[in-house]
Amino acid sequence: MTKLETSIRKIVVFGPQGSGKGTQAEFLSKELNIPWISTGNIYRQNIKAQTELGKLANQYIIEGKLVPDQVTNRLVAERLKEKDAQAGFILEGYPRNRGQAETLDQMTQISAVLEIAISDEEAIRRISGRRVCTCGMTFHIDFNPPKQEGICDQCGKKLFQREDDQEETIRQRLAIYHQNTEPLLKEYLKRGILIRVNGEQGISEVKKEIFQKMDENNFSKK
Ligand code: AP5
Repeated sequence: MTKLETSIRKIVVFGPQGSGKGTQAEFLSKELNIPWISTGNIYRQNIKAQTELGKLANQYIIEGKLVPDQVTNRLVAERLKEKDAQAGFILEGYPRNRGQAETLDQMTQISAVLEIAISDEEAIRRISGRRVCTCGMTFHIDFNPPKQEGICDQCGKKLFQREDDQEETIRQRLAIYHQNTEPLLKEYLKRGILIRVNGEQGISEVKKEIFQKMDENNFSKK
């Protein structure tokens, strides 16, 4: 295998809340046949299962704060060691600050960083219409509705609104993104691995732009 073939498969997805990170990460994961690893989803699964990790994470998540780095770093390190992640992964929601970015660099070499850009106003508009499922699927009541109202297309369970999707909490999460996460992109730009896409288009247009830019950068889909 060439260096590109082995490295392409380690993709990180960045973007403000509601930019469509989860929506696009899921498409990429299916197209490239590599796992979608979302720290937010892992925390939510643990909250649902009422594990110790879930109880701890929930205290931070409902207030729109970051879960402490040592907890998240350990979680990601363990997940990246799993068998299915050895051929690559779509990592979404991590890293979110300098400490996490440095820790990720020690774990592995990232090959591409995707930034989905949207304004804060658009983020708030989208998040207020978001509906999610415990299986990880995400919908929007207007922009990406499920086939049957309130029911997940994938597993048939009832959709719900996330507890942290309240306007005040969203503003707090956006502030953390601008202060701690966004500055990390400069480093990835310097490394020549940053791919920026306009997130303020329809879901399929964003998807198209992602694959076009990956191709332009010699990142093959296969
Ligand atoms: P996480 O779940 O990662 O939440 P987030 O970063 O706040 O991002 P969102 O899930 O809100 O947005 P998204 O960009 O994925 O948008 P989506 O695709 O759903 O994290 C939750 C919490 O966990 C954090 O606040 C933190 O406490 C903790 N945590 C997670 N990672 C951590 C870390 N590394 N360190 C510490 N703590 C961590 O789309 C949004 C809506 O818009 C949907 O309804 C969708 O259908 C719709 N939509 C998507 N694209 C479009 C489009 N192009 N046009 C119209 N609608 C669209």
